[in-house]
Amino acid sequence: MAVLSAALACALSSMESSQQKRVRTSAALCAGEQEYLLQRKQVAAQALSALGFSCSAEEVPHVAMLGSGGGQRAAVSLVGSLSQLAQDGLLDAVLYLGGVSGSTWSMAPLYSDPEWSTRLDLHMASLLRSQVDHSVVLSWFKETAQREDFSLTDAWGALTSAGIMKQWDTRKLSEEANRNATNPYPIYGAIEKFCFNNGPVQGKWLELSPHEAGFTELDMFVDTSLLGSSFRGGALVEQKPEMDMIQLQGILGCAPANEKMEDYIPAWLNEPADLDRAAREYLLSYNGITTFINMTKSYVTDDVVLRRIEELQARLHEHINQNKSAVLESQNPEQREQQFKQWTVELWTVVQDWSQTLPDGPTKLHVSLLVQKLLPIIVKWEWGTVKNFLYKSEEESVPECLSSAEHLHLVDAGMLVNVGYPSFLGPRRDIDLLIAPEYSAGDMFETLTLARDYAAQVQKPFPTLDDRVLQEEKDWPRDCYVFEGNGTAPTIVFMPLFNRNNCKDAAEWAQRMDQFATFQKSFSPDMIQFLMDTAKANTRSCKETLLREIGKALQRRRDKLSQTKQ
Ligand SMILES: *[C@@H]1O[C@H](CO)[C@@H](O)[C@H](O)[C@H]1NC(C)=O
Ligand SMILES: *[C@@H]1O[C@H](CO)[C@@H](O)[C@H](O)[C@H]1NC(C)=O
Ligand SMILES: *[C@@H]1O[C@H](CO)[C@@H](O)[C@H](O)[C@H]1NC(C)=O
Repeated sequence: MAVLSAALACALSSMESSQQKRVRTSAALCAGEQEYLLQRKQVAAQALSALGFSCSAEEVPHVAMLGSGGGQRAAVSLVGSLSQLAQDGLLDAVLYLGGVSGSTWSMAPLYSDPEWSTRLDLHMASLLRSQVDHSVVLSWFKETAQREDFSLTDAWGALTSAGIMKQWDTRKLSEEANRNATNPYPIYGAIEKFCFNNGPVQGKWLELSPHEAGFTELDMFVDTSLLGSSFRGGALVEQKPEMDMIQLQGILGCAPANEKMEDYIPAWLNEPADLDRAAREYLLSYNGITTFINMTKSYVTDDVVLRRIEELQARLHEHINQNKSAVLESQNPEQREQQFKQWTVELWTVVQDWSQTLPDGPTKLHVSLLVQKLLPIIVKWEWGTVKNFLYKSEEESVPECLSSAEHLHLVDAGMLVNVGYPSFLGPRRDIDLLIAPEYSAGDMFETLTLARDYAAQVQKPFPTLDDRVLQEEKDWPRDCYVFEGNGTAPTIVFMPLFNRNNCKDAAEWAQRMDQFATFQKSFSPDMIQFLMDTAKANTRSCKETLLREIGKALQRRRDKLSQTKQ
């Protein structure tokens, strides 16, 4: 009997493991997330009772907090908002934390701590004080650059993580799968670049949790540890090492990945007729190199190195702006192509020669390595390359842009919508209340209107927005808005970081947005402190609204339960 049951257990477990090695197609949550939620609802029921909403675990409303994009502004503000929620006893009532782009820059380090929810003061302090040893970054980079799917994303992850956030953590997301429910359950959003540009909406949004990664609208998922492994026809062919959090951060927060190669076009090349393939490669090299130089510059503190970087920028600028029309005039297409190739090589040579003239030391080593490894891939502008788990999938629902591609190119979800709404709409997570602090730049209500359009495209309920209010208040928004759902659509509490409470008029509001713009030097400790304080104060002033909406969400959950029981 014992032998038999052992054999049976073995057979079952091998069945289970071969199942885990296939793409899971289902509208339901995976077992791991369900299990986590059951536990988290116990934590939430206690928190709700403490707030005066006594309820059973089953009655706990589905509340998700969504961190928006917005570079370091979003990363820092999110920690401030979470800290105030914790202080007000609200954080434990939140089941999920969803992040895209900038917010993920701080979510990744927060979740390195299995109990960050209980220690937010510590995490705020670490935003102000931590440092990263550059030799650690360098050796990581050396190793990563050897991998076959090495892409610009890896360099970007290292630059944002070590350079901007001053954090370095090479754990893997799937290692969080067996944790207890001390923290809200994390869901990260990314998009598939080629489907995003040319495909149907179903092929765009990819979500990642500690348990699974997959396309939200296709209901197709793999174990998170297998994202990046080779699949064919829905089955695992070859397992590859899971990406680490640095690489993942590169995917989640790489806003420049979709920038056009024509970002900067010199006057002498401005004729559309001039912009053929050869010319584009030259421009792409220039714009790509410039993007990475700007990123590097944003975290350099040494004045000598900074001046040297500015010299390099000036030399590159000179190269591209020198009027080369006369040379091209009498050339046939082949000669022209050769000529542009030559100029591209010259650009690279400018960078290489410059890196050799740096004073000996760690900076020189660091920069030379970057130059050697990055230049060849900049011209291809390859981002977020991972093996595609839907390659040659035979499921009819899988769009051509996915089934035909051996690799996915996963990039910053902020290009589609700068808040992770897609993962939280519809019946799968059946959300009652979304808490959406808004740290984005640009049109203050754009994430909402984009999410509404997205919801309409995928036919999922979304609350009604009053377009007149959005139009009238976009240049000087209030501190909290409630967009009420109706049972199937969630309610959204929307909280702009800068608002009528902390800016006296539209002019001051615009000035704040500008002062904390997304693309700039890494923030000073004073700026970080200011943002954290602002986000905390903003969350505090919305507390009554949040409590009221949590109360309504609880009532709604109870109504849903009694309907299903009838
Ligand atoms: C959760 O796990 C941590 C260790 O990671 C432990 O210290 C803590 O007591 C656990 N909490 C609960 C509620 O089980
Ligand atoms: C570049 O030089 C050509 C002549 O060789 C001239 O016609 C053209 O206007 C110049 N372009 C610019 C932007 O200076
Ligand atoms: C909620 O509104 C949606 C339209 O956004 C509608 O389809 C749905 O029937 C409404 N549900 C309820 C319960 O009123």
